[in-house]
Amino acid sequence: MDWKDKLAVITGASSGIGEATARKLAAQGLRVVLVARRADRLEALAEDIRANGGTACILPADLTKEADRLRVCEEAGAADVLVNNAGLGWYGYGSDMPWKMAWEMLQVNVEAVVQLTIGFLGRMRRRDSGHIINVGSISGSFPSQGIALYGATKSFLDNFTTALYRELTGTRVHVSVVRAGPVRTEFGKVALSKVNGGHVPTEHVGVTADYVAWHIWKLMLRPRRVIYVPGWLRVVPWAELAFGRIIDQIGPLLLKNRKA
Ligand SMILES: NC(=O)c1ccc[n+]([C@@H]2O[C@H](COP(=O)([O-])OP(=O)(O)OC[C@H]3O[C@@H](n4cnc5c(N)ncnc54)[C@H](OP(=O)(O)O)[C@@H]3O)[C@@H](O)[C@H]2O)c1
Repeated sequence: MDWKDKLAVITGASSGIGEATARKLAAQGLRVVLVARRADRLEALAEDIRANGGTACILPADLTKEADRLRVCEEAGAADVLVNNAGLGWYGYGSDMPWKMAWEMLQVNVEAVVQLTIGFLGRMRRRDSGHIINVGSISGSFPSQGIALYGATKSFLDNFTTALYRELTGTRVHVSVVRAGPVRTEFGKVALSKVNGGHVPTEHVGVTADYVAWHIWKLMLRPRRVIYVPGWLRVVPWAELAFGRIIDQIGPLLLKNRKA
């Protein structure tokens, strides 16, 4: 697939994996549309991309809002690539999670992905070309103490993506999920800021956002249903099958709910 001058929409482009992916795709000659709430960050990134010879525009949107999601579909729904990357987490006992936090997570991690996918996929099917990439997590196939709802939202992405991939077999429209392990971004800080009194185990470990972006680009060159980043994480779903009962027993010991 020649992606030069094609249009890519990247949600959550104001930091972390989304920002790195926008830079990577723009450097490969795609025109990028940057979606997130923090317009100042998006504008700074767009200017930087343009200064480096790329093409970028911003589309500020709060993906918890249906009206904003519809606007993204209307203004950018003809894109060739959609990277559903925006997402957030929260760490602590599920029973302590404020409903407002759970609602926000469901809106961004699940509902926005569904609404944008429906909004973009029809046109891709009519053109018989396009690629939707959902940024999932290894936690989607490894239910873990402390991130009950977050992991469940990523399980949803795994299932949703796999089913769509099977519907689209034989076409030139691709849907993929990126099962990422820990990545060093603002993700942990954001989760911590949600006043949960906990900590996020991925704060200090993990691969770089650039590394994930590079894998997303490789995925566009060679579409597959699922990739693991880093690749060795493909053992994790097997570990859940093999050791799930042991993890059931030690889960509470692994969950540290430090009070702020
Ligand atoms: N970091 C990890 O360890 C890790 C591991 C596996 C998977 N992931 C996944 O990777 C994706 C990107 O996370 P990251 O690590 O790059 O974290 P990040 O640096 O915190 O980036 C999250 C992005 O999501 C956007 N976002 C959050 N709420 C939004 C809303 N209501 N409307 C629009 N945009 C919103 C943020 O933009 P604004 O705040 O400007 O709106 C930001 O650009 C997420 O889906 C996450 O679940 C992360």
